[in-house]
Amino acid sequence: MQRMKVDFNYAMDAFVKGGLDDSALEKYREKSRMGLSRLLKLVDDGTAGFVNLPKQDTSDIKKFAKRLNGKFNDLILVGIGGSALGIETLCTALLPHGYNARSFAERGAFPRVWLADNVDPCKISAILDECNPEDTYIVVITKSGSTVETAANFNVIFEWLDKGTKDPKTHICAVTDPEDGTLRKIADNSGFATFSVPKNVGGRFSVLSPVGLLPAALLGMDIDKLLEGAGSITADKYEKIITLASIYMYFMDNGRNINVMMPYSSRLASMADWFCQLWGESLGKQFDINGNEVLFGTTPIKAVCVIDQHSQVQLFKEGPQDKIVTFIEVNKHERDKKIIAEYEDYKYLEGHSLGELFNIELLATEAALKNTGKPSMKISIDSIDEQTVGALFMLFQYIIPVVGLACDIDPFDQPGVEEGKNYAYGMLDKDGYADMKKKYEEIFVKRDDFIV
Ligand code: PA5
Repeated sequence: MQRMKVDFNYAMDAFVKGGLDDSALEKYREKSRMGLSRLLKLVDDGTAGFVNLPKQDTSDIKKFAKRLNGKFNDLILVGIGGSALGIETLCTALLPHGYNARSFAERGAFPRVWLADNVDPCKISAILDECNPEDTYIVVITKSGSTVETAANFNVIFEWLDKGTKDPKTHICAVTDPEDGTLRKIADNSGFATFSVPKNVGGRFSVLSPVGLLPAALLGMDIDKLLEGAGSITADKYEKIITLASIYMYFMDNGRNINVMMPYSSRLASMADWFCQLWGESLGKQFDINGNEVLFGTTPIKAVCVIDQHSQVQLFKEGPQDKIVTFIEVNKHERDKKIIAEYEDYKYLEGHSLGELFNIELLATEAALKNTGKPSMKISIDSIDEQTVGALFMLFQYIIPVVGLACDIDPFDQPGVEEGKNYAYGMLDKDGYADMKKKYEEIFVKRDDFIV
Protein backbone atom coordinates (compact mmCIF):
# COMPACT_ATOMS: atom_id res chain seq x y z
CA MET A 1 0.00 0.00 0.00
CA GLN A 2 1.29 3.45 -0.87
CA ARG A 3 1.27 5.43 2.35
CA MET A 4 2.49 8.72 0.92
CA LYS A 5 1.61 10.60 -2.27
CA VAL A 6 2.94 13.83 -3.73
CA ASP A 7 0.59 15.92 -5.86
CA PHE A 8 2.23 18.85 -7.67
CA ASN A 9 -0.58 19.80 -10.07
CA TYR A 10 -0.90 23.32 -8.75
CA ALA A 11 2.80 24.01 -9.03
CA MET A 12 2.55 23.51 -12.80
CA ASP A 13 2.04 26.19 -15.42
CA ALA A 14 -0.84 24.12 -16.79
CA PHE A 15 -2.84 25.27 -13.74
CA VAL A 16 -1.00 28.19 -12.14
CA LYS A 17 0.55 30.99 -14.19
CA GLY A 18 4.28 31.19 -13.54
CA GLY A 19 4.46 27.55 -12.50
CA LEU A 20 6.71 24.98 -14.10
CA ASP A 21 6.21 23.81 -17.65
CA ASP A 22 7.49 20.44 -18.78
CA SER A 23 10.85 21.74 -19.90
CA ALA A 24 11.44 23.66 -16.64
CA LEU A 25 10.49 20.57 -14.69
CA GLU A 26 12.95 18.46 -16.66
CA LYS A 27 15.70 21.07 -16.27
CA TYR A 28 15.24 21.20 -12.48
CA ARG A 29 14.90 17.43 -12.30
CA GLU A 30 18.33 17.20 -13.91
CA LYS A 31 19.69 19.60 -11.30
CA SER A 32 18.04 17.63 -8.46
CA ARG A 33 19.48 14.36 -9.77
CA MET A 34 22.90 15.98 -9.58
CA GLY A 35 22.17 17.07 -5.98
CA LEU A 36 21.00 13.59 -5.11
CA SER A 37 24.08 11.96 -6.56
CA ARG A 38 26.27 14.37 -4.54
CA LEU A 39 24.31 13.42 -1.42
CA LEU A 40 24.62 9.70 -2.12
CA LYS A 41 28.38 10.13 -2.49
CA LEU A 42 28.45 11.72 0.98
CA VAL A 43 26.43 8.78 2.26
CA ASP A 44 28.84 6.31 0.66
CA ASP A 45 31.94 8.00 2.03
CA GLY A 46 30.37 8.14 5.50
CA THR A 47 29.97 11.93 5.73
CA ALA A 48 26.15 11.98 5.74
CA GLY A 49 25.18 9.38 8.32
CA PHE A 50 21.47 10.15 8.70
CA VAL A 51 20.48 8.06 5.68
CA ASN A 52 21.76 4.89 7.34
CA LEU A 53 20.05 5.44 10.70
CA PRO A 54 17.08 3.18 9.82
CA LYS A 55 19.54 0.25 9.85
CA GLN A 56 20.80 0.87 13.39
CA ASP A 57 20.47 -1.68 16.17
CA THR A 58 17.87 -0.38 18.63
CA SER A 59 18.12 -3.19 21.17
CA ASP A 60 20.07 -1.21 23.79
CA ILE A 61 17.60 1.67 23.63
CA LYS A 62 14.63 -0.67 23.98
CA LYS A 63 16.24 -2.57 26.87
CA PHE A 64 17.01 0.68 28.65
CA ALA A 65 13.47 1.99 28.13
CA LYS A 66 11.97 -1.27 29.34
CA ARG A 67 14.06 -1.11 32.49
CA LEU A 68 12.82 2.41 33.23
CA ASN A 69 9.15 1.82 32.40
CA GLY A 70 6.95 2.35 35.43
CA LYS A 71 9.77 3.82 37.54
CA PHE A 72 9.26 7.55 36.96
CA ASN A 73 6.25 9.81 36.74
CA ASP A 74 8.04 12.54 34.80
CA LEU A 75 10.59 12.78 32.04
CA ILE A 76 12.39 16.07 31.46
CA LEU A 77 14.18 16.38 28.14
CA VAL A 78 16.90 19.02 28.09
CA GLY A 79 18.10 20.16 24.68
CA ILE A 80 17.55 22.76 21.98
CA GLY A 81 17.48 23.06 18.17
CA GLY A 82 18.13 19.70 16.55
CA SER A 83 18.31 18.19 20.02
CA ALA A 84 14.71 19.19 20.78
CA LEU A 85 12.57 19.85 17.71
CA GLY A 86 12.54 16.26 16.47
CA ILE A 87 11.46 14.94 19.85
CA GLU A 88 8.83 17.63 20.12
CA THR A 89 7.56 16.57 16.70
CA LEU A 90 7.33 12.96 17.85
CA CYS A 91 5.47 13.90 21.02
CA THR A 92 3.01 16.19 19.23
CA ALA A 93 2.33 13.65 16.49
CA LEU A 94 2.27 10.41 18.44
CA LEU A 95 1.13 11.17 21.98
CA PRO A 96 -2.52 12.06 22.51
CA HIS A 97 -3.37 15.72 22.98
CA GLY A 98 -3.37 16.43 26.72
CA TYR A 99 -1.15 13.41 27.38
CA ASN A 100 0.39 14.93 30.51
CA ALA A 101 -3.04 15.35 32.07
CA ARG A 102 -3.68 11.60 31.94
CA SER A 103 -3.11 9.43 34.98
CA PHE A 104 -0.09 7.16 35.32
CA ALA A 105 -2.25 4.13 34.55
CA GLU A 106 -3.88 5.80 31.53
CA ARG A 107 -0.38 6.54 30.25
CA GLY A 108 0.53 2.86 30.46
CA ALA A 109 3.07 3.61 33.24
CA PHE A 110 4.98 5.87 30.89
CA PRO A 111 6.09 9.24 32.26
CA ARG A 112 4.69 12.65 31.56
CA VAL A 113 7.06 14.60 29.31
CA TRP A 114 8.48 18.12 29.58
CA LEU A 115 10.81 19.83 27.18
CA ALA A 116 13.40 22.13 28.74
CA ASP A 117 14.53 23.84 25.55
CA ASN A 118 14.29 27.59 25.99
CA VAL A 119 16.18 29.32 28.79
CA ASP A 120 12.97 30.96 29.81
CA PRO A 121 13.03 30.97 33.61
CA CYS A 122 9.22 30.89 33.81
CA LYS A 123 9.08 27.76 31.68
CA ILE A 124 11.87 25.93 33.50
CA SER A 125 10.55 26.90 36.94
CA ALA A 126 7.04 25.79 36.00
CA ILE A 127 8.34 22.41 34.80
CA LEU A 128 10.20 21.91 38.08
CA ASP A 129 7.10 23.00 40.05
CA GLU A 130 5.17 20.18 38.39
CA CYS A 131 7.73 17.45 39.06
CA ASN A 132 9.09 15.69 42.12
CA PRO A 133 12.84 15.01 41.87
CA GLU A 134 12.58 11.45 43.27
CA ASP A 135 10.03 10.62 40.60
CA THR A 136 11.70 12.35 37.64
CA TYR A 137 14.10 11.15 34.98
CA ILE A 138 16.24 13.59 32.99
CA VAL A 139 17.57 13.05 29.48
CA VAL A 140 20.06 15.75 28.55
CA ILE A 141 20.77 15.89 24.84
CA THR A 142 23.51 17.83 23.14
CA LYS A 143 25.60 16.57 20.25
CA SER A 144 28.38 19.11 20.81
CA GLY A 145 28.10 18.81 24.56
CA SER A 146 28.62 22.52 25.03
CA THR A 147 25.48 24.37 23.90
CA VAL A 148 25.06 27.19 26.39
CA GLU A 149 21.27 26.97 26.76
CA THR A 150 21.35 23.23 27.36
CA ALA A 151 24.25 23.63 29.78
CA ALA A 152 22.38 26.34 31.72
CA ASN A 153 19.10 24.42 31.90
CA PHE A 154 20.91 21.22 32.84
CA ASN A 155 22.75 22.97 35.69
CA VAL A 156 19.53 24.41 37.08
CA ILE A 157 17.79 21.03 36.84
CA PHE A 158 20.78 19.17 38.25
CA GLU A 159 20.80 21.39 41.35
CA TRP A 160 17.08 20.71 41.83
CA LEU A 161 17.69 16.97 41.43
CA ASP A 162 20.72 16.98 43.70
CA LYS A 163 18.76 18.64 46.50
CA GLY A 164 15.77 16.37 46.11
CA THR A 165 17.15 12.88 45.46
CA LYS A 166 19.48 10.44 47.16
CA ASP A 167 21.43 9.52 44.05
CA PRO A 168 20.98 12.05 41.24
CA LYS A 169 23.17 10.20 38.77
CA THR A 170 20.64 7.35 38.60
CA HIS A 171 18.10 9.87 37.32
CA ILE A 172 20.15 11.13 34.38
CA CYS A 173 20.98 9.93 30.91
CA ALA A 174 23.15 11.95 28.54
CA VAL A 175 22.83 11.70 24.76
CA THR A 176 25.93 13.22 23.26
CA ASP A 177 29.05 12.68 21.16
CA PRO A 178 30.57 9.20 21.57
CA GLU A 179 33.96 10.58 22.71
CA ASP A 180 34.26 14.34 22.74
CA GLY A 181 32.71 17.38 24.38
CA THR A 182 31.95 18.72 27.81
CA LEU A 183 28.85 16.61 28.46
CA ARG A 184 30.59 13.37 27.43
CA LYS A 185 33.37 14.12 29.97
CA ILE A 186 30.91 15.02 32.73
CA ALA A 187 28.68 12.03 32.03
CA ASP A 188 31.54 9.54 32.00
CA ASN A 189 33.12 10.98 35.14
CA SER A 190 29.81 11.14 36.99
CA GLY A 191 28.53 7.72 35.99
CA PHE A 192 25.44 8.88 34.08
CA ALA A 193 23.88 6.46 31.64
CA THR A 194 24.78 7.54 28.12
CA PHE A 195 23.82 7.04 24.50
CA SER A 196 25.80 8.37 21.56
CA VAL A 197 24.91 10.55 18.63
CA PRO A 198 26.90 9.15 15.68
CA LYS A 199 29.69 11.53 14.69
CA ASN A 200 28.46 11.71 11.10
CA VAL A 201 24.90 12.73 12.04
CA GLY A 202 24.38 16.48 12.44
CA GLY A 203 22.07 17.98 15.08
CA ARG A 204 19.08 18.78 12.88
CA PHE A 205 19.41 15.43 11.08
CA SER A 206 19.54 13.46 14.33
CA VAL A 207 15.90 12.74 15.21
CA LEU A 208 16.25 9.12 14.08
CA SER A 209 19.38 8.60 16.22
CA PRO A 210 19.21 8.13 20.03
CA VAL A 211 18.46 11.88 20.17
CA GLY A 212 14.87 11.12 19.18
CA LEU A 213 14.71 7.38 19.65
CA LEU A 214 15.64 7.27 23.33
CA PRO A 215 12.94 9.73 24.48
CA ALA A 216 10.50 8.08 22.06
CA ALA A 217 11.17 4.65 23.57
CA LEU A 218 10.91 6.04 27.11
CA LEU A 219 7.46 7.31 26.15
CA GLY A 220 6.33 3.98 24.73
CA MET A 221 6.55 4.79 21.03
CA ASP A 222 7.40 2.02 18.60
CA ILE A 223 10.86 3.10 17.50
CA ASP A 224 11.30 0.18 15.12
CA LYS A 225 8.20 1.27 13.22
CA LEU A 226 9.56 4.80 13.13
CA LEU A 227 12.77 3.52 11.56
CA GLU A 228 10.82 1.24 9.27
CA GLY A 229 8.91 4.27 7.98
CA ALA A 230 12.12 6.26 7.56
CA GLY A 231 13.74 3.26 5.87
CA SER A 232 10.89 3.12 3.36
CA ILE A 233 12.41 6.19 1.69
CA THR A 234 14.66 4.21 -0.62
CA ALA A 235 15.50 4.37 -4.32
CA ASP A 236 11.90 3.79 -5.36
CA LYS A 237 10.97 7.06 -3.61
CA TYR A 238 13.69 9.12 -5.32
CA GLU A 239 11.11 10.31 -7.82
CA LYS A 240 9.22 12.04 -4.98
CA ILE A 241 12.43 13.56 -3.61
CA ILE A 242 13.59 14.77 -7.01
CA THR A 243 10.19 16.22 -7.88
CA LEU A 244 9.77 18.14 -4.63
CA ALA A 245 13.39 19.37 -4.65
CA SER A 246 12.97 20.49 -8.29
CA ILE A 247 9.82 22.45 -7.57
CA TYR A 248 11.34 24.12 -4.51
CA MET A 249 14.41 25.11 -6.53
CA TYR A 250 12.38 26.40 -9.45
CA PHE A 251 10.34 28.68 -7.21
CA MET A 252 13.45 29.82 -5.30
CA ASP A 253 14.92 30.90 -8.62
CA ASN A 254 11.68 32.64 -9.56
CA GLY A 255 11.24 35.05 -6.69
CA ARG A 256 9.27 32.93 -4.26
CA ASN A 257 11.26 33.74 -1.16
CA ILE A 258 8.91 32.14 1.32
CA ASN A 259 8.36 28.44 1.79
CA VAL A 260 5.18 27.69 3.73
CA MET A 261 4.78 24.31 5.43
CA MET A 262 1.09 23.85 6.03
CA PRO A 263 -0.12 20.63 7.64
CA TYR A 264 -3.85 20.09 8.01
CA SER A 265 -3.37 18.52 11.40
CA SER A 266 -2.55 19.88 14.83
CA ARG A 267 -0.59 16.69 15.36
CA LEU A 268 1.84 17.80 12.66
CA ALA A 269 2.25 21.35 13.99
CA SER A 270 5.68 20.59 15.45
CA MET A 271 6.66 18.79 12.24
CA ALA A 272 6.32 22.20 10.59
CA ASP A 273 8.65 23.71 13.23
CA TRP A 274 11.13 20.89 12.68
CA PHE A 275 10.92 21.47 8.91
CA CYS A 276 11.53 25.21 9.38
CA GLN A 277 14.75 24.52 11.27
CA LEU A 278 15.94 21.95 8.75
CA TRP A 279 15.19 24.26 5.83
CA GLY A 280 16.45 27.46 7.42
CA GLU A 281 19.66 26.24 9.01
CA SER A 282 20.62 23.95 6.13
CA LEU A 283 19.98 26.33 3.24
CA GLY A 284 20.36 29.84 4.63
CA LYS A 285 24.00 30.52 3.73
CA GLN A 286 26.09 33.58 2.98
CA PHE A 287 28.69 31.65 0.96
CA ASP A 288 28.54 28.67 -1.37
CA ILE A 289 30.99 25.78 -1.20
CA ASN A 290 33.36 27.65 -3.53
CA GLY A 291 33.52 30.66 -1.22
CA ASN A 292 31.37 32.93 -3.40
CA GLU A 293 29.00 35.23 -1.55
CA VAL A 294 25.52 34.02 -2.57
CA LEU A 295 23.16 35.00 0.29
CA PHE A 296 21.26 31.81 -0.44
CA GLY A 297 17.99 30.59 1.02
CA THR A 298 14.30 31.27 1.38
CA THR A 299 12.30 31.79 4.55
CA PRO A 300 10.34 28.84 5.92
CA ILE A 301 7.01 29.56 7.57
CA LYS A 302 4.85 27.31 9.69
CA ALA A 303 1.11 27.49 9.10
CA VAL A 304 -1.13 25.01 10.85
CA CYS A 305 -4.56 24.56 9.42
CA VAL A 306 -7.35 25.10 9.69
CA ILE A 307 -6.19 27.54 12.38
CA ASP A 308 -4.13 29.52 9.87
CA GLN A 309 -7.04 29.73 7.45
CA HIS A 310 -8.26 32.28 9.97
CA SER A 311 -4.91 33.98 10.19
CA GLN A 312 -2.29 33.74 7.44
CA VAL A 313 -4.25 32.36 4.47
CA GLN A 314 -5.68 35.80 3.63
CA LEU A 315 -2.11 36.96 3.03
CA PHE A 316 -1.10 33.79 1.18
CA LYS A 317 -4.06 34.11 -1.19
CA GLU A 318 -4.17 37.84 -1.84
CA GLY A 319 -0.71 39.05 -0.88
CA PRO A 320 2.49 39.11 -2.90
CA GLN A 321 3.51 36.37 -5.31
CA ASP A 322 6.40 35.35 -3.09
CA LYS A 323 5.36 32.00 -1.59
CA ILE A 324 5.19 28.33 -2.35
CA VAL A 325 2.90 26.34 -0.09
CA THR A 326 3.33 22.67 0.82
CA PHE A 327 0.19 21.17 2.26
CA ILE A 328 0.31 18.00 4.30
CA GLU A 329 -2.92 16.06 4.09
CA VAL A 330 -3.89 13.24 6.42
CA ASN A 331 -6.41 10.99 4.70
CA LYS A 332 -7.70 9.28 7.78
CA HIS A 333 -7.94 11.22 11.04
CA GLU A 334 -8.07 8.98 14.09
CA ARG A 335 -10.88 9.27 16.61
CA ASP A 336 -13.05 11.06 14.06
CA LYS A 337 -16.30 12.56 15.33
CA LYS A 338 -19.58 12.67 13.45
CA ILE A 339 -21.36 15.98 13.72
CA ILE A 340 -24.93 15.83 15.03
CA ALA A 341 -26.57 19.14 14.21
CA GLU A 342 -28.85 20.17 17.07
CA TYR A 343 -29.99 23.43 15.49
CA GLU A 344 -31.63 24.05 12.12
CA ASP A 345 -28.99 26.58 11.07
CA TYR A 346 -26.26 23.96 11.44
CA LYS A 347 -28.11 21.26 9.49
CA TYR A 348 -25.61 21.49 6.59
CA LEU A 349 -23.07 19.88 8.95
CA GLU A 350 -25.32 16.95 9.82
CA GLY A 351 -23.76 13.60 9.07
CA HIS A 352 -20.36 15.01 8.19
CA SER A 353 -17.41 14.46 10.48
CA LEU A 354 -14.65 16.69 11.81
CA GLY A 355 -12.07 14.74 9.80
CA GLU A 356 -14.14 15.13 6.67
CA LEU A 357 -14.50 18.87 7.27
CA PHE A 358 -10.71 19.08 7.80
CA ASN A 359 -10.02 17.54 4.40
CA ILE A 360 -12.77 19.45 2.61
CA GLU A 361 -11.25 22.67 3.91
CA LEU A 362 -7.87 21.65 2.54
CA LEU A 363 -9.39 21.11 -0.92
CA ALA A 364 -11.12 24.47 -0.63
CA THR A 365 -7.86 26.23 0.27
CA GLU A 366 -6.00 24.52 -2.58
CA ALA A 367 -8.68 25.76 -4.96
CA ALA A 368 -8.70 29.28 -3.50
CA LEU A 369 -4.92 29.63 -3.78
CA LYS A 370 -4.95 28.25 -7.31
CA ASN A 371 -7.61 30.78 -8.21
CA THR A 372 -5.28 33.70 -7.46
CA GLY A 373 -2.32 32.02 -9.11
CA LYS A 374 -0.58 30.96 -5.92
CA PRO A 375 1.33 27.68 -6.34
CA SER A 376 1.08 24.79 -3.95
CA MET A 377 1.96 21.12 -3.59
CA LYS A 378 0.38 18.48 -1.46
CA ILE A 379 1.94 15.58 0.39
CA SER A 380 -0.75 13.12 1.47
CA ILE A 381 -0.23 10.45 4.09
CA ASP A 382 -2.87 7.88 4.86
CA SER A 383 -2.73 8.39 8.66
CA ILE A 384 -0.40 9.66 11.39
CA ASP A 385 1.62 6.90 13.00
CA GLU A 386 5.24 5.98 13.64
CA GLN A 387 5.74 4.82 10.07
CA THR A 388 4.38 7.87 8.29
CA VAL A 389 6.10 10.26 10.70
CA GLY A 390 9.40 8.40 10.14
CA ALA A 391 8.85 8.59 6.38
CA LEU A 392 8.14 12.34 6.48
CA PHE A 393 11.32 12.94 8.51
CA MET A 394 13.41 11.03 6.00
CA LEU A 395 11.72 12.57 2.98
CA PHE A 396 12.57 16.11 4.08
CA GLN A 397 16.02 15.06 5.29
CA TYR A 398 16.72 14.00 1.70
CA ILE A 399 15.02 16.88 -0.11
CA ILE A 400 16.74 19.72 1.74
CA PRO A 401 20.33 18.49 1.23
CA VAL A 402 19.47 17.69 -2.40
CA VAL A 403 18.42 21.33 -2.89
CA GLY A 404 21.55 22.56 -1.10
CA LEU A 405 24.03 20.32 -2.86
CA ALA A 406 22.45 20.95 -6.27
CA CYS A 407 23.02 24.68 -5.67
CA ASP A 408 26.60 24.32 -4.32
CA ILE A 409 25.45 24.99 -0.76
CA ASP A 410 26.73 22.98 2.21
CA PRO A 411 23.49 21.86 3.91
CA PHE A 412 25.27 20.32 6.87
CA ASP A 413 27.00 23.30 8.49
CA GLN A 414 25.62 26.33 10.35
CA PRO A 415 28.41 28.94 10.52
CA GLY A 416 25.86 31.72 11.03
CA VAL A 417 24.85 30.39 14.42
CA GLU A 418 28.40 30.55 15.73
CA GLU A 419 29.01 34.30 15.83
CA GLY A 420 26.14 35.18 18.15
CA LYS A 421 26.95 32.17 20.30
CA ASN A 422 30.56 33.31 20.68
CA TYR A 423 29.53 36.85 21.68
CA ALA A 424 27.29 35.34 24.34
CA TYR A 425 30.19 33.22 25.63
CA GLY A 426 32.29 36.40 25.70
CA MET A 427 29.67 38.25 27.74
CA LEU A 428 29.50 35.29 30.13
CA ASP A 429 33.31 35.56 30.52
CA LYS A 430 33.85 31.99 29.35
CA ASP A 431 37.55 31.10 29.14
CA GLY A 432 38.99 31.68 25.69
CA TYR A 433 36.29 34.16 24.60
CA ALA A 434 37.77 37.47 25.83
CA ASP A 435 38.39 38.54 22.22
CA MET A 436 34.75 37.90 21.34
CA LYS A 437 33.66 40.04 24.28
CA LYS A 438 35.90 42.83 23.01
CA LYS A 439 34.60 42.45 19.48
CA TYR A 440 31.02 42.47 20.71
CA GLU A 441 31.65 45.69 22.63
CA GLU A 442 33.13 47.29 19.50
CA ILE A 443 30.22 46.22 17.30
CA PHE A 444 27.32 46.74 19.68
CA VAL A 445 27.14 50.53 19.45
CA LYS A 446 23.80 52.37 19.59
CA ARG A 447 22.68 55.99 19.72
CA ASP A 448 20.32 57.21 22.42
CA ASP A 449 18.46 59.48 19.95
CA PHE A 450 17.33 56.36 18.10
CA ILE A 451 15.61 55.05 21.20
CA VAL A 452 12.25 56.48 22.19
O1 PA5 B 1 21.58 21.37 13.54
C1 PA5 B 1 22.32 21.73 14.41
O2 PA5 B 1 23.51 21.34 14.49
C2 PA5 B 1 21.84 22.64 15.51
O3 PA5 B 1 20.54 23.06 15.33
C3 PA5 B 1 21.96 21.94 16.85
O4 PA5 B 1 21.09 20.84 16.88
C4 PA5 B 1 21.66 22.87 18.02
O5 PA5 B 1 22.44 24.02 17.94
C5 PA5 B 1 21.92 22.16 19.33
O6 PA5 B 1 23.22 21.67 19.32
P1 PA5 B 1 23.70 20.56 20.32
O7 PA5 B 1 22.98 19.30 20.03
O8 PA5 B 1 25.18 20.44 20.06
O9 PA5 B 1 23.41 21.06 21.70
